[in-house]
Amino acid sequence: MQKHVLFENINDPKLHNIDRAIELGAYKAWEKVLKSIKREELVQMVKDSGLRGRGGAGFPTGLKWSFVPVASPKPKYLCCNADESEPGTCKDRVLMECDPHSVIEGVMIAAFAIDCHTSFFYVRGEYDLSMRRIEKAIDEAYKKGYLGKNILGTGYDLEMILHRGGGAYICGEETALLSSLEGEKGLSRIKPPFPAVSGLYACPTVVNNVETLANLPRIVINGGQWYASMGTEKSKGTRIFSVSGHVKKPGNYELELGTPLRTLIYDYAGGILDDKKLKCVIPGGSSVPVLMPDQLDTPLDFESVQAAGSMLGSGAVIVMNEDTCMVWVAEILAHFYMHESCGKCTPCRQGTGWLYEIIHRIEHGQGRAQDLDTLLDLAKNIEGNTICALGDAAATPVISTIKQFRNEYEYHIEHKKCLVKSDFRLR
Ligand SMILES: Cc1cc2nc3c(=O)[nH]c(=O)nc-3n(C[C@H](O)[C@H](O)[C@H](O)COP(=O)(O)O)c2cc1C
Repeated sequence: MQKHVLFENINDPKLHNIDRAIELGAYKAWEKVLKSIKREELVQMVKDSGLRGRGGAGFPTGLKWSFVPVASPKPKYLCCNADESEPGTCKDRVLMECDPHSVIEGVMIAAFAIDCHTSFFYVRGEYDLSMRRIEKAIDEAYKKGYLGKNILGTGYDLEMILHRGGGAYICGEETALLSSLEGEKGLSRIKPPFPAVSGLYACPTVVNNVETLANLPRIVINGGQWYASMGTEKSKGTRIFSVSGHVKKPGNYELELGTPLRTLIYDYAGGILDDKKLKCVIPGGSSVPVLMPDQLDTPLDFESVQAAGSMLGSGAVIVMNEDTCMVWVAEILAHFYMHESCGKCTPCRQGTGWLYEIIHRIEHGQGRAQDLDTLLDLAKNIEGNTICALGDAAATPVISTIKQFRNEYEYHIEHKKCLVKSDFRLR
């Protein structure tokens, strides 16, 4: 069974209007927080829920908040990361378009948890409808008195500022997002100091993902223990999995963490398109290692996917059938990371271009015998040697596809063509 927590009312076509959202329970959690919950109790409740970040790294949300020095005389900032650009990922978009009030209510609750009075909402540049829905939701919330000065007569002030990004993948990385918000180029910053201590305008800042934040109203209403009763021992709650690629029913599916990958692909996403054989799956957005068909019983939770040699990442599950040429896949991904590298760190700036160049020539019949060793050497020199994880994200698909599909690369180099049929190619 799909477990609808975030998707409880998602099919209601009027949910994005505040009156309908209120009828369905919106802002009850915000009122509860303002009127009857102390800040420390809220942080503890979220710690008890076991909620972990849905942006990629899976860091415990309550713990992240507790790093903010609340007694600091500096203002504290909360930023909602709605830059969603990891290839394959499209869950935050659905939440923003269909249920924007849950998302901004989550921002309000997280802001309260760190004693923040100015919050920011950073939306991916290309997400036009998301942007408009969030803008309208914020306006409506101000008009109803859920934002602004002396909210609901409680004395608490909170502003929410919407910012549209320029369409750069790197601006989803939290420190680049903060640079971009400050009006600078979206370049990553060295950590430490972590944003919780020195973030936006050098003030304590928390950056949380859209899906992470949308869970908060439900946790406040039902309690931390309720949330912790779903999922596995260490991976609590539900997750929205964006399934794409060669499946019969691609889309977003909300399931309890720990549901097997096989169930997601075969029971919910309808199985492999045209009933072909499964070749492999990228389980957490394009920057994580592939899983093979004999790993289909892997439970989709942070620990199990890691034990299987990959990562749950952004929850984007990309499914590929037997006709997929993995050199072609690696070429597309290498092009993406080369294009999106911000250029600050030399290994990533130079290395992503070299990775693409070599894979491109292999794919186009000009590969050389030593190319695979060069690719692995390059990828290993990027990995771990950059300020942010974009470098690792670029290296991983190369290392992983060579590890699992070396024969396809070798065939390309020797025969100057694909080992597989690849009949769905774009060119
Ligand atoms: C290159 C790169 C891109 C990222 N893109 C996103 C993104 O689009 N959305 C997001 O929420 N997190 C993204 N992240 C992760 C953020 O840096 C950060 O960990 C996250 O927003 C924290 O929120 P959470 O604790 O709620 O997961 C990205 C990280 C990297 C290295």
